[in-house]
Amino acid sequence: MHYSDYGLANTKQLLTRALRGGYAVPAFNFYNMETLSAILNAAQITHSPIILAVSESALNYMGDDILMGMIRGAKYKKNTVALHLDHGHSFEICKRAIDMGFSSVMFDGSALKLAENIKTSRRVADYAHKFDVSVETELGVLAGIEDENTNSDTHLYTNPDIVHDFVQKTRTDSLAVAIGTSHGAYKRKNPSESLRFDILQRIVKNIPNTPLVLHGASSIPQKYIKNINKFGGDIQNAYGIPPSQIRRAISMHITKVNVDSDSRLAFTSAIREYLSKHINAFNPRDYLLFAQNEITQNCINEIQNIMGSGYKI
Ligand code: G3H
Ligand code: 13P
Ligand code: ZN
Repeated sequence: MHYSDYGLANTKQLLTRALRGGYAVPAFNFYNMETLSAILNAAQITHSPIILAVSESALNYMGDDILMGMIRGAKYKKNTVALHLDHGHSFEICKRAIDMGFSSVMFDGSALKLAENIKTSRRVADYAHKFDVSVETELGVLAGIEDENTNSDTHLYTNPDIVHDFVQKTRTDSLAVAIGTSHGAYKRKNPSESLRFDILQRIVKNIPNTPLVLHGASSIPQKYIKNINKFGGDIQNAYGIPPSQIRRAISMHITKVNVDSDSRLAFTSAIREYLSKHINAFNPRDYLLFAQNEITQNCINEIQNIMGSGYKI
């Protein structure tokens, strides 16, 4: 089935509007019914466009049929939600997502040599565009764990001098840039460390019409770290990107902001709290719903206070 049969939008549509409007569309990762419902509820409450992001490992965790069955059954406003493959590492996985009904795919060739990254990005774009599916590609490498397949200790910032040529050759619809963020909950030793806005400014100057994507943009709310530790967990030295810095990046053409770790922390914090306070509880629906609602609250907060995407639909 084509994504339009599900009432989905592609990310080119959503991000072009965001670029013009000076806000970012949040891309929240999901991996089960609760996380999917949490994100869609937040989008509905805030009247925000939303990108439902599925990593390769989340795709394999849910399985193609269950995933698309949940999308078919989900309630959302037509043409305001995109279904996006996050960090696809091969042409084959991108094709699989497109053929399943995804409206957007990321080909992540950031670990490849430049020529190989360009070649496969272009191959993905040529295939995707036949179906009006949008394509995101990446230049530069984020430190930390990109996903199960990519693990790098050092930043390799995006080179602003090659972005124009890269976008031209690959025909990508949006570009993920490396300006100092990283994946996971341990982003920085010093919480006041700044993103490289100088690099972002040079990128924007060279590709002013290309929507830019910020991965690894979780702010790691300290209330969740404290709550997890209060109720038996042990997470130390976890700091994210301060919301003020993400807002500044959004004012400079970042139009898609990827958040996964914050939802994971919200979910875990709520489950730990619920089970500690209800020591006789053993119905998973009770604590899963409690945890789902905490993700919704966090998504609402980020939509309203960071993304600026509320009331854009
Ligand atoms: O960017 C990476 C995402 O956080 C996905 O992580 O492969 O564990 O689902 P995952
Ligand atoms: P975080 O780990 O900062 O949530 O990043 C998520 C991400 O970039 C998904 O692609
Ligand atoms: Zn990412």
